[in-house]
Amino acid sequence: MSALPQHIISDLKAVVGDQWVVVEKRAIERYLYDETAYGVRPQPAAEVVVVKPGSTEEVAEVLKVANKHKVPVYVRGGGTGLVGGAIPTKPGIVVTLERMDRVVIDSENMVAEAEAGATLGKLIEEAEKHNLMFPAHPGDEGASIGGLIACNAGGSRAVKTGVMRNYVLGLEVVLPTGEVLKLGAKTIKNNFGYNLAHLLIGSEGILGVITRAYLRLYPKWSYAATVVIPFDSRVNAFRVAKKLLFSGFIPLALEYFDRRVIENSAKYLGLQWPIKEGEYFLMVMLAEPLEDVLFLELEYIDRVAREEGSLEPFATQREDEQKTLLKIRSEIFSSLKSETFDILDTTVPLGNVDRFIEKIIDIERRYGIWLPVYGHVGDGNVHVHVLNYQGFSKDQLEKIAEDVYDAALMLGGVITGEHGIGYARKKYVKKLLGSAWVETMRKLKAALDPNNILNPDKVIPEE
Ligand code: LAC
Ligand code: ZN
Repeated sequence: MSALPQHIISDLKAVVGDQWVVVEKRAIERYLYDETAYGVRPQPAAEVVVVKPGSTEEVAEVLKVANKHKVPVYVRGGGTGLVGGAIPTKPGIVVTLERMDRVVIDSENMVAEAEAGATLGKLIEEAEKHNLMFPAHPGDEGASIGGLIACNAGGSRAVKTGVMRNYVLGLEVVLPTGEVLKLGAKTIKNNFGYNLAHLLIGSEGILGVITRAYLRLYPKWSYAATVVIPFDSRVNAFRVAKKLLFSGFIPLALEYFDRRVIENSAKYLGLQWPIKEGEYFLMVMLAEPLEDVLFLELEYIDRVAREEGSLEPFATQREDEQKTLLKIRSEIFSSLKSETFDILDTTVPLGNVDRFIEKIIDIERRYGIWLPVYGHVGDGNVHVHVLNYQGFSKDQLEKIAEDVYDAALMLGGVITGEHGIGYARKKYVKKLLGSAWVETMRKLKAALDPNNILNPDKVIPEE
């Protein structure tokens, strides 16, 4: 039997109804994992029950049951996380908010009222119906609003739009003990006391369950273009990236990758990377409310790129072409996943991205390995994949990851820019953030979650 004791299951059924408590092994399988790379993915516990509440009140009651029996609770969104944050590592209750997926657009105030289980895709679609948009694009469109907020997701557009945190006006949160907290309002400004909402944003499911949010929307930017700039020289690519970032206009996204990485992704998708020249690429995405502004920017990018030694830039305003380019970029992770030990989320100050990549190349040379590197050069967030190199032990692969971390830290960077700590990065926390950080986090956690039931095995190291 894979489930928890019967009396706990009965209590849960009394809250949500029999049909929303899942105990069959086959049916719970898809709630046990997220997208974390296999090398660092924790093993889920065997004794897990999945509960599907339909309202905030039911979430609160489920947490009360969990406190009564002192059973861990793992809240789950779209399961797109990369650090094991949603994986039930101890016997307990997985709470999936998939039934709570309503999105209401208040177009007059430019606010979306979204339940936590709604996907990013649904938010984008609903906003679109009102000629509005959610400007950020913090990752996979299957990710849930609750998960995106709990993990303060980032994504390619952060350079222009900021991250998830910048769009949350209000939150409804169920505290670990079952009280419901309503934070914020539909206002843009709100200076009413401690900003508890921002304590919850990025808390990775350990301090409360986000059940609903007010998210800021914007009028649509109607004109979009994508420019891929190829280079023979990486140095030139970064010179152009810097120059664009200093030019005063902010692109929607500024991404970097090389031919090997991007062709690997295209092949995985059964597509062709359309740009035949060059080894290194910048991909600049633009979005503006006025077409003339877009044209001026396109002209400027073309001029800067050529002046700094690029090959022939490829610019398109066609929606299908832009979609394909972005798709190939977005699937780099998936294309490498089966051979990935760990995907790193290192982030360095803007001016140091080129130096960081030089250091990665040194590490590649030292070990005689390929370290696929790509990412959000516009905000300094560079992903490095450590692959399952033949003949390397787990310890050796971890050492390579640590060398990459050291390189980022030496340049004033951090080991996660958008993926978070979750389970996989927990062991670095004490060393990098210090025991005062750990102690403060423990106190906060104990104050809000006295029985340590909410995602107990994550973010804060035990020892
Ligand atoms: C990306 C994900 C892995 O940038 O963060 O593709
Ligand atoms: Zn990323």
